[in-house]
Amino acid sequence: MLLDLDPQGNASSWLGGGGDIGIFSVLTESQSVESQLVKSTVEGLSLVPASQRLAGAERILANELAAETTLRRRLEGAELSGWDYVIIDTPPALNLLTINALTAADQVLVPVEAHVLALSGVAQIVSTIGLVQSRLNPKLRTAGFLLCRFDSRTRHSAEVRERLTAKFGDRVLRTVIHENIRLAEAPSFAEPIETYAPSSQGAADYGALAMEFIAMENA
Ligand SMILES: Nc1ncnc2c1ncn2[C@@H]1O[C@H](COP(=O)(O)OP(=O)(O)OP(=O)(O)O)[C@@H](O)[C@H]1O
Ligand SMILES: [Mg+2]
Repeated sequence: MLLDLDPQGNASSWLGGGGDIGIFSVLTESQSVESQLVKSTVEGLSLVPASQRLAGAERILANELAAETTLRRRLEGAELSGWDYVIIDTPPALNLLTINALTAADQVLVPVEAHVLALSGVAQIVSTIGLVQSRLNPKLRTAGFLLCRFDSRTRHSAEVRERLTAKFGDRVLRTVIHENIRLAEAPSFAEPIETYAPSSQGAADYGALAMEFIAMENA
């Protein structure tokens, strides 16, 4: 199951589920998660979509008591036993929606663009994760830092990897997602990389990510 908490709604529109009220009404109108669940174009994956209204959700939530735990409370009341994973896509900002996601989650995966500028953002998210752990969700674990848009031809990407590893050691995932044009193309065909370009580097990288993640869980 995918919960799209990003008002940009890319994950939803790519998966053929945009435009509905979706997660907005789960967060602000006490709708159940199940009532907003729609099938995606991918077999086995359903989603609670984002919508334009989600941009206003933060303001509405801010007026409520225990606003940070809203999503967790909704998920606690949901029937999730039929699902292997609930994946929450967050906005690219540390706002109340992101705090809701971190408060509801067991694990957080931090994608880091292989660019020096992205490293200051990592420091910020790490400090926010620490605050959420101590105040709201002690069981939150950092599953790892995932280097994305990695360009093996440049020294720069390798440098970013070294700096991240110096700081976070083995919490930096072994898998990196290389820059790959097939990954840029796939969304416009509303297809996941595994079916759009199964023999591409992008498919291999995301496959490796899934395997590394599952191996970590079983360790
Ligand atoms: N590894 C990659 N190789 C090539 N293009 C990529 C890669 N990763 C992302 N992109 C391009 O960037 C676009 C957005 O990527 P992504 O989905 O990771 O960001 P986003 O979640 O929309 O951004 P954000 O939430 O940070 O605003 C993709 O549609 C694709 O065009
Ligand atoms: Mg995003």
